Amino acid sequence: MNRRLSAPVGITATGQCFPPRVVTNDDLSKIMETNDEWIRSRTGIGQRRWVEPGVGASHLGAPALQMALDNRGIKASELDIILVTTVTPDTLFPSTACRIQQMVGADKAFGFDLNAACSGFLFAFTTACSLVAAGGVKRIGIVGVDIMSTIINKEDRATAVLFGDGAGAVIVERVEEGLGLLDFEHRIDGSGGAFLYMPAGGSLKPATAETVAAKEHYVHQAGSEVFKNAVREMADNSRMLMDRNGFTGDQLKLFVPHQANIRIMDAAAKRLELDPSRMMVNIDKYANTTTATIPTALHQAFEQKRMAKGDLVALAAFGAGFTWGATLLRWAY
Ligand SMILES: CC(C)(COP(=O)(O)OP(=O)(O)OC[C@H]1O[C@@H](n2cnc3c(N)ncnc32)[C@H](O)[C@@H]1OP(=O)(O)O)[C@@H](O)C(=O)NCCC(=O)NCCS
Repeated sequence: MNRRLSAPVGITATGQCFPPRVVTNDDLSKIMETNDEWIRSRTGIGQRRWVEPGVGASHLGAPALQMALDNRGIKASELDIILVTTVTPDTLFPSTACRIQQMVGADKAFGFDLNAACSGFLFAFTTACSLVAAGGVKRIGIVGVDIMSTIINKEDRATAVLFGDGAGAVIVERVEEGLGLLDFEHRIDGSGGAFLYMPAGGSLKPATAETVAAKEHYVHQAGSEVFKNAVREMADNSRMLMDRNGFTGDQLKLFVPHQANIRIMDAAAKRLELDPSRMMVNIDKYANTTTATIPTALHQAFEQKRMAKGDLVALAAFGAGFTWGATLLRWAY
């Protein structure tokens, strides 16, 4: 059974923002025991962007949203909701949505943060489309932003090399019949929680001098467990979604997977029997920016004219939780 909405809703503009500082694999080899060859061959990553100290999620998120508003040709005051997805908010509260609301001047909006790690953008997109289809709100700005450089342990080479900072944004509203969100399948499974998490800093284990000394405010990851699960769920879920809608790989104009590891992405593309040229890849330049990978990849793909109005696009993600999802849409503009 597919999960079609009661009204056509989709993306009508995109934006992005990355910090200027480029950190190459060679740069990392000067601060940890690693090298360009290992990182490229195991992950597909060549470089990433990292912020300077004092830059938070809102500082990248607000310009990304502003770019999307400008590309759509509307003012921030025309937004009804600002929905921010992140695991690295400026502060646990107030929400980063409140900070971004103030920065862009969205004076008629409400908003909130949503945490689903690397699947955050997909869950936010489905939530936003459902709210607009229900009729209570007209226009939603989604911001997917993560500042992973602030929560990685630079002494843990197996994890530190994987992540970058960035923000992507989209505007969601009613679109023409037959376009926008077609179907989705999203899941969470808490039994995967211990394989990718931040041990301290929440209510279960509040911050103390001891938790900081033990580096428990950083990402802890069992890489090979995450890898195995990501390959299986991203590939199977994407294929299932295509099959139940009667689509084959050659009908897909663009596959935009979460950019975690090129080997995970290739496995999903193979399961979709997809020509490699139809997969959006930018992990080489930006690494894994967590919830920002898909909205920034969509922005760049549209700028590069890799999809146009009416084209079939598939999105797929997997992340901490575990969380995962796939989404099918027809590009709406
Ligand atoms: C992290 C990851 C790249 C590791 O790749 P892998 O092929 O599983 O590598 P292993 O963990 O088996 O490590 C192999 C060796 O490389 C070493 N190694 C780890 N990181 C290294 C680095 N940055 N540079 C050089 N060597 C490294 C390990 O210490 C290990 O050495 P050993 O065999 O002497 O013990 C891979 O597991 C992965 O991508 N997992 C998914 C992570 C992810 O995407 N997370 C986000 C999900 S949204």
